[in-house]
Amino acid sequence: MDDLGPVTWPPEPISTGRLVLRAPEARDRATFVELFASPEVHTYLGGPRPRAELEREMPEVPARRPGSFVVELDGAMVGQLLLRRATEHSRPAARDRVDLGYLFLPRVWGAGYATEACGAALDWLATVLPGEPVVLTTQSANVASMRLAAKLGFTEVERFDAWGARQWLGIRPPTPPPPG
Ligand SMILES: CC(C)(COP(=O)(O)OP(=O)(O)OC[C@H]1O[C@@H](n2cnc3c(N)ncnc32)[C@H](O)[C@@H]1OP(=O)(O)O)[C@@H](O)C(=O)NCCC(=O)NCCS
Repeated sequence: MDDLGPVTWPPEPISTGRLVLRAPEARDRATFVELFASPEVHTYLGGPRPRAELEREMPEVPARRPGSFVVELDGAMVGQLLLRRATEHSRPAARDRVDLGYLFLPRVWGAGYATEACGAALDWLATVLPGEPVVLTTQSANVASMRLAAKLGFTEVERFDAWGARQWLGIRPPTPPPPG
């Protein structure tokens, strides 16, 4: 995976109805540790990382690279979105495409926040890299993620086996430019 390339980063914080998307800051560090150490969050992602290792290795300001958004609710981080270029994806249909990933704290699941945040991030991408399709890989057993992908407009390219599980690869055509 690689950075997005020539985009201005970070953008101004993006406000949706209930959320703010912004670049990571030092105050998010504890939540990043919580997110990456959560067994529940990593049920379909190959398992969590040990908390002690994360506490040791996490930089003071986590993951401040283009396309890495913190999702904030009521002033505190509740999730992360990643838009990256999949330079080393094993499937040719996804390789070198922009790839979407998402992780939210379990306490905020089931409220539509992931849909709202991903929609805003995809709109942002359409303004900074117009005409780019976006790909998404998720385990087909990850029902919540599969539902989210469908709501966001991703459609199936193929299913394949990797990382010890059945994977679903979806693609979303570029967001059309605004009329006029
Ligand atoms: C994948 C993940 C982000 C989905 O989270 P989510 O909260 O289910 O996603 P959504 O934002 O789409 O919320 C949908 C649910 O909110 C409900 N909802 C409640 N209020 C809502 C509102 N105002 N607007 C929209 N939906 C609302 C919907 O009915 C839906 O419920 P349902 O799942 O029972 O049908 C979350 O499960 C997660 O972080 N998992 C761990 C990480 C992971 O596996 N990532 C995938 C790797 S790419």
